[in-house]
Amino acid sequence: MRWYPPEAYAALTADVSEIIISAEEIDQRVEEMGRRISEDYAGRNPILIGVLKGVVPFIADLLRVITVPVEIDFMAVSSYSPEARDRGVVRLVKDLEVPITDRHVLFVEDVIDTGLTLSYLLRTLRARQPASLEVCVLFNKPKHRLVDVPLKYKGFDLPDRLVVGWGLDYREQYRNLPYVGLLKPEVFQEDVQT
Ligand code: PRP
Repeated sequence: MRWYPPEAYAALTADVSEIIISAEEIDQRVEEMGRRISEDYAGRNPILIGVLKGVVPFIADLLRVITVPVEIDFMAVSSYSPEARDRGVVRLVKDLEVPITDRHVLFVEDVIDTGLTLSYLLRTLRARQPASLEVCVLFNKPKHRLVDVPLKYKGFDLPDRLVVGWGLDYREQYRNLPYVGLLKPEVFQEDVQT
């Protein structure tokens, strides 16, 4: 883990009750994933596609451990409504900048929970007829899966808890924690009560 001035570290991590995956564990796993991806995609010039915003730290790390020529692009989605999201329909608010027809696409996600977002986006991407389309996810939350999604490269399974850090947020905060951790209950109690 990088070095932080002690006071800054104390402030950054004040709301965390427990570290569940350390920076070292994540670095090591991402390196292994990068190695496998580099072997599998040798000579294929893949394009990594990330969905903003939680994927930012992971895709930046992954990109730097992939040793074959690679391109990168991003999509962003938002929900029309909670009901639409429950039906697996999301609104594309930022599309890709490059065509992916006949390209080898590696779709990169920070976390898969119900699988609905991924399932919707994969359908959208498949319609553009890529040469291949695989999924790489850092964190998998299998407990609430509603649709089966193919995960070719997977980092860690997460417990069915509110976890933050390494891109994962709670109310848009904590994405910059240098590990994955649990929040102290008093931090999100308000949401539990309402
Ligand atoms: C996360 C993640 C996926 C989605 C997965 O994004 O990046 O897009 O949730 O959930 P699902 O499997 O239940 O569909 P989030 O909505 O938290 O946005 P963020 O990346 O901006 O934090």
